[in-house]
Amino acid sequence: MAHDLSGKVALVTGGASGIGEATARFLADAGADVIVADLNTDNAQTVSLDVTSESGWQAVIENIRKTRGRLDILVNSAGILRIADIESSSFDEWRMVLGVNLDGVFLGCKYAIGLMKQADGGSIINLCSISGLVGGHNLAAYNASKGGVRLLTKSVALHCARKKYAIRCNSVHPTFVETPMVSEVIAKSPDPERTRRSIEEQIPLGRMAQSEEIAEMILYLASDESTFVTGSEFVIDGGVTA
Ligand SMILES: NC(=O)c1ccc[n+]([C@@H]2O[C@H](COP(=O)([O-])OP(=O)(O)OC[C@H]3O[C@@H](n4cnc5c(N)ncnc54)[C@H](O)[C@@H]3O)[C@@H](O)[C@H]2O)c1
Repeated sequence: MAHDLSGKVALVTGGASGIGEATARFLADAGADVIVADLNTDNAQTVSLDVTSESGWQAVIENIRKTRGRLDILVNSAGILRIADIESSSFDEWRMVLGVNLDGVFLGCKYAIGLMKQADGGSIINLCSISGLVGGHNLAAYNASKGGVRLLTKSVALHCARKKYAIRCNSVHPTFVETPMVSEVIAKSPDPERTRRSIEEQIPLGRMAQSEEIAEMILYLASDESTFVTGSEFVIDGGVTA
């Protein structure tokens, strides 16, 4: 069934690029009133938000309350990747990755729930990763942040269920997706062609995902077609973890 999000208000963090950008497009195509929030505000339509800032979140949510009176969908897609093992990771880098990837999702869930529960409830979708399910030797901070998002998602889902808020919360776990996050890592590597090939060879389907393939899943989780789905993790990894 085609998803109909007309009448719903959606907020997408990290919506200026990659998975967030594709998701914002899909949600809007399905009829939602979409607010895109990002650090990068090159597009004048994008609302400025640093997801690590509590006052920033409070201001964005208050603005949505005033202008729309409701929030139905939150997609926490803002995230950063640092390739570093436990020995080479600096404490500053650790804090930066945990700050954006985990604190950002904590704040987003916390403040979105406050507004969602005042109207008809809602759906929160947290961008996690297969790095929240399995470890990588050179992903110390990223693994820790995504492992945290995976279980924070379940805690949020259970809290909302217990409070009878009609707010669902789920996590999405992609493997490599062809976005600026990944192209930067490939471009900075000593032999980009070889790096790309070695990434593709790790994936049973033999290629990276496209952002739209992840956005399809997010659209389902945002819609009323998934009203019995909460606290769950959705792996989209071309067979990697199989
Ligand atoms: N691309 C992948 O292979 C992949 C795989 C698994 C999971 N993910 C996750 O999906 C999400 C989206 O990744 P992507 O590949 O689209 O990345 P991307 O780099 O293309 O986009 C991320 C966006 O987040 C924004 N952002 C970064 N820090 C921010 C902050 N402090 N406040 C607000 N916005 C901020 C950036 O400006 C950018 O627009 C991330 O959480 C990422 O960890 C990506």
